[in-house]
Amino acid sequence: MKFKRMLDQDLSGKRVFIRADLNVPQDDAGNITEDTRIRASIPCIEQALKAGAAVMVTSHLGRPTEGAFKLEDSLAPVAKRMGELMGREIPVVADWVNGVTIEPGQLVMLENCRVNKGEKKNDPELAKKMAALCDVFVHDAFGTAHRAEASTYGIAQYAPVACAGPLLAAEMDAIAKALNQPKRPLVAIVAGSKVSTKLTILEALAKNVDQLIVGGGIANTFMLAAGLKIGKSLAEPDLLDAAKAVMAAMTARGASVPIPVDVVCAKTFAADAVATVKAATDVQDDDLILDIGPVTAAQLAEQLKKAGTIVWNGPVGVFEFAAFENGTKTIAHAIAQSSAFSLAGGGDTLAAIAKYGIESNVDYISTGGGAFLEVLEGKTLPAFEVLGSRA
Ligand code: 3PG
Repeated sequence: MKFKRMLDQDLSGKRVFIRADLNVPQDDAGNITEDTRIRASIPCIEQALKAGAAVMVTSHLGRPTEGAFKLEDSLAPVAKRMGELMGREIPVVADWVNGVTIEPGQLVMLENCRVNKGEKKNDPELAKKMAALCDVFVHDAFGTAHRAEASTYGIAQYAPVACAGPLLAAEMDAIAKALNQPKRPLVAIVAGSKVSTKLTILEALAKNVDQLIVGGGIANTFMLAAGLKIGKSLAEPDLLDAAKAVMAAMTARGASVPIPVDVVCAKTFAADAVATVKAATDVQDDDLILDIGPVTAAQLAEQLKKAGTIVWNGPVGVFEFAAFENGTKTIAHAIAQSSAFSLAGGGDTLAAIAKYGIESNVDYISTGGGAFLEVLEGKTLPAFEVLGSRA
């Protein structure tokens, strides 16, 4: 997809409006507990400032009620944290829709954009007012690229120039490389507790990937569909036909969904539960499958090492418990050692990547949650669509 990039624009003396995704987790006292999105948003802001722009940055934080600003909705803690990281004061501007006073070289943070009436519904009047604040609109919020709101979509329609910031552009490039023109074989790992929450992803990937590795509760449903017993493991028997359809679609294309040949079982779901490795054909009625077995993990690792492209979403076992982490750990290390282009995303996946220290060996780690999942579903995200239309 063609889209304008901020780096190619002349920003000198221009008013630049950056929509970032600074929606970070906070504890009850409002302290930021994880600041990846703030760090990931800084390069865009710094590049715009270096280019001589007057920079306004905004984001949503949480899901506040429009028109009813509350203290906990404020981006002030985010501005403070970003200011610490950038070594400068970042003033927060409230009630900014009708005008912002700012000079080139200055940076301000515009208060939580989701408090503005009409934001969620992409009200054109609100979007036009936002667009009037700037010469250049920069969308750098991949985490919210699946939303068509006034500050993400409408403003991109009406601003004099609409382009992608470096973070959004990097995400778009990585997604295109992994899913649109992948070096084959393309292997996807889709794991999680329920088939129902990822069925559209499995169906979309079944049309594209060469191997679809399933894990967690999703694998249990596929094992059932393959005629295996899974004891009292988490599964969705009502989705057996859907799982069979995914396997049939893959087989028809000469592709495959590898079914585990061995598993790690316990009698209870607990960190100190006794872990027993069993052949996939030996699972008892009172067993809970909490991980793939070592033979399966080694087989999958071999396939991942031979892959041309790997897309990873979800740990394949209960990796939070030491006795049931081997599958996820083996897969993480195989991805790290593979020469394949690797793209990973999703909260649990990021936690596994951090746990096994493979951040620098994964080619691209997405900052998107819901947005990343919608990409895997094969959807064209509104951000991509609107920026494409303005290219
Ligand atoms: C996220 O946290 O996934 C994004 O910031 C989007 O937030 P939303 O689901 O509230 O739109």
